[in-house]
Amino acid sequence: MIVEHLRFAAELGVAGVSRDPAWRARAGDTVPLLRSGAEALAALKADIGPDCSRCKLHTLGRRQVVFGVGNPEASLMFVGEAPGADEDIQGVPFVGRAGQLLTKIIEAIDLKREDVYIANVIKCRPPQNRNPEQDEVETCEPFLFQQIDMIKPKVVVALGTFAARALLRTLDPISRLRGRVYEYRGAKLIPTFHPAYLLRNPSSKREVWEDMKLVKSLLGSEK
Ligand code: URA
Repeated sequence: MIVEHLRFAAELGVAGVSRDPAWRARAGDTVPLLRSGAEALAALKADIGPDCSRCKLHTLGRRQVVFGVGNPEASLMFVGEAPGADEDIQGVPFVGRAGQLLTKIIEAIDLKREDVYIANVIKCRPPQNRNPEQDEVETCEPFLFQQIDMIKPKVVVALGTFAARALLRTLDPISRLRGRVYEYRGAKLIPTFHPAYLLRNPSSKREVWEDMKLVKSLLGSEK
């Protein structure tokens, strides 16, 4: 019976069998089974490709896809809006002035940048840092959702109105959304002000500190 089965498979072009889990992945799978966070993220990055042309931003002057950076097994993940000029040049999210402030925010809760994972809702720089448009978000956000599912963080911090709206599917502004904990894809989601907003409105750092204390307590709690 099994011999007939194998003969039939051979006629269909199956050249052999293997116990290697990777062998079970089908062409087109973006999240093959039994992969570590790092392997899954690398596969997703390769799937997006260095020259992604899925939305119009590839024709509007972006230099490169800014995938995400950090610990693939992170308990804490930050989600921003879109790469800016510095990120577009370096290929790494949050490396400009707002990024330096984000690094300080991370260090304020006794973590290092390498401990967390940082990504954006959209992976390419919009021209003149304009707001991402609906079609760009719809095309790109599934990649962020996959990143979250691969990393499985305990806490996700949405930085600014744009990220909070994209993740929570709401039109409410960040000022209304922050100060509460939301359930999100198996994680706790904390919306807070974007570091670029804090550069313009330093008095709001107080609220961000409150939000980060909440993040820290959630990271330390059992569930
Ligand atoms: N602002 C963002 O939202 N993301 C970045 O990567 C940089 C600035």
